[in-house]
Amino acid sequence: MCGISGIAGGSDVTKRLYSCMLNLEYRGYDSCGMAVASGGAIEVRKNIGRVAEVFEKERFAELSGETGIAHSRWATHGAPSKVNSHPHTSSDERIAVVHNGIIANYVKLKEMLTENGHNFRSETDSEVIAQLLEFHHKKHGNFARAIRETMEELEGTYAFAAVVAESPDVIFCARNKNPLIIGVGKDANYVASDVVAFIEYTKNVVYLNDNEYAVVSKDSHQVFSAATGAPMEKEIDVINWDAEQAKKGGYPHFLLKEIYEQPTAVRSALQIPIEDIERIAKMAQDAEQVYLLGVGTTFYVTMLAQYYFKEIAGVFAPSISSDEFSYLCNVDEKTLVIAISQSGETFDTLEALRYAKANGAKTAAIVNALGSSMTREVDEVLMQGAGPEKSVLSTKAALSQIIVLTRIAISLGEMRGSLSADARDELNTSLWELVDVLRRLLDEKPGFIRRVAKRISSYTKWLFIGRGYHMPAALEAALKLKEVTYIPAEGMPGGFMKHGPISMIDEDMVAVVLMPTPENERLYNSTLINVSEMKSRGAKLVGFHFNPDEKIFDEDIVLPKAHYLFAPIPELVAGQLLAYFCAILLKRHPDNPRGLAKSVTVE
Ligand code: AGP
Repeated sequence: MCGISGIAGGSDVTKRLYSCMLNLEYRGYDSCGMAVASGGAIEVRKNIGRVAEVFEKERFAELSGETGIAHSRWATHGAPSKVNSHPHTSSDERIAVVHNGIIANYVKLKEMLTENGHNFRSETDSEVIAQLLEFHHKKHGNFARAIRETMEELEGTYAFAAVVAESPDVIFCARNKNPLIIGVGKDANYVASDVVAFIEYTKNVVYLNDNEYAVVSKDSHQVFSAATGAPMEKEIDVINWDAEQAKKGGYPHFLLKEIYEQPTAVRSALQIPIEDIERIAKMAQDAEQVYLLGVGTTFYVTMLAQYYFKEIAGVFAPSISSDEFSYLCNVDEKTLVIAISQSGETFDTLEALRYAKANGAKTAAIVNALGSSMTREVDEVLMQGAGPEKSVLSTKAALSQIIVLTRIAISLGEMRGSLSADARDELNTSLWELVDVLRRLLDEKPGFIRRVAKRISSYTKWLFIGRGYHMPAALEAALKLKEVTYIPAEGMPGGFMKHGPISMIDEDMVAVVLMPTPENERLYNSTLINVSEMKSRGAKLVGFHFNPDEKIFDEDIVLPKAHYLFAPIPELVAGQLLAYFCAILLKRHPDNPRGLAKSVTVE
């Protein structure tokens, strides 16, 4: 949702800023730009297009200076265009700003500034920040004071970074509800929306909290409270990801790399110390009501976990889409909300957590991104340790979240006395077996799935169905396909189909069936009924199943067998691979689908 980066110091500022921009491109990629301060002036270059394209077209490499800021955009206010791209400058062009977030009161501020002679050029909300900084700076001649007054007047969410012609060796930056991090390097300091921007240059970081601003130069960084102007004591944290982990490592796309990293992500989730798992299980045990919260893929993760909480621990813990939580759920001090988020920055989930907290609930979060906002706002955090996920499509982070939630369900089952030691051991062994199941799937099946994708990628309507705990996997497989190929695809419970959607089925439709193992007789037989209903209406039937002798589908994707409860996990991976290969065949960009962003920090 827009990537901010900035560098103070060093001789190759544009080269390093370019690399930071590429690392943050997953946050938005409809346009980008750079501003460099040097010799008492600021030069800005920007345009629509991907980072590499604009870097060449606008000849960013010609910019020179010791301090610079950059931005890749995911448009909210104002269509992607050169003029709406960041950085935005003040009327006198002596201040340039990059911004992530939404300024809720920008219309009012724009009117006030226009009346005061400011000349707006873009349709964005972000431009008011540059103009407001100029307005206050001209009043006081003091930039720190201008920042504080600007922050006081801005409503909404923001992280921004600014360069100023009269202080060409300094970056000013501020945060309120959008991420902003300082990287402390040897010969330069950095600012960015995410540590992956500058991780190849430094792993030492300082996190800004809401309503703080910072002044960053080549060899110093100081954070201040916006409310009082007082300097804040900040610790330097060391990030334990390495730069290689954040790169493609020989794979053509991050999506494929991250799909292949899933056995490792599952193993890492299984290696999370049991005490950390038990801490959250204990919170669930002490609560009268537990909600599982996520949005998009993480909503489907919680939906699957909801079945595991019921099946394993005997607890009904409803899964709620974060964006609906405050409209739907009763919350009090006996409530526990467990939020799931790979980025830890998702606006809908953060807002739901804040609503829960305000009503007295306990909160916990399972998060992948180190130092993200969510990790600092909840009562208990559990870091998944799945490693950086760069593709906009969540794959390994989602799978690792499922493992973590299953472990919490197991631990809760034990605490409640509803799970015997034998049953616990069997489930734990089956979870560990998944590492090998996924390895075999990824070693043996991708070529086959690619050939199936070749035969069906031209279909323009798709349906994914599953029953019981296969249902969330069907919804997620449909989401993967639609987000990366843009093909309309519905996911639904098998039993739901006959209540309306069945009328869509004809020979132009691909129907993907997530077929349970026959040992799960009830689920198997009910799903079989769906297969006949769809077959008789002419759908092209694709089966994700575990039986090489099954002969009911037009296309069989036979998966390595897992414990029946965990069958959705290989199904999810098969769904990811099918979506990936269809995207390649349809010439879609697998890492950066249109209109999406990795971290959705707006409402
Ligand atoms: C996943 O493929 C999606 N791009 C998206 O649905 C994502 O899962 C959702 O936005 C939630 O993100 P989070 O895990 O960072 O909170």
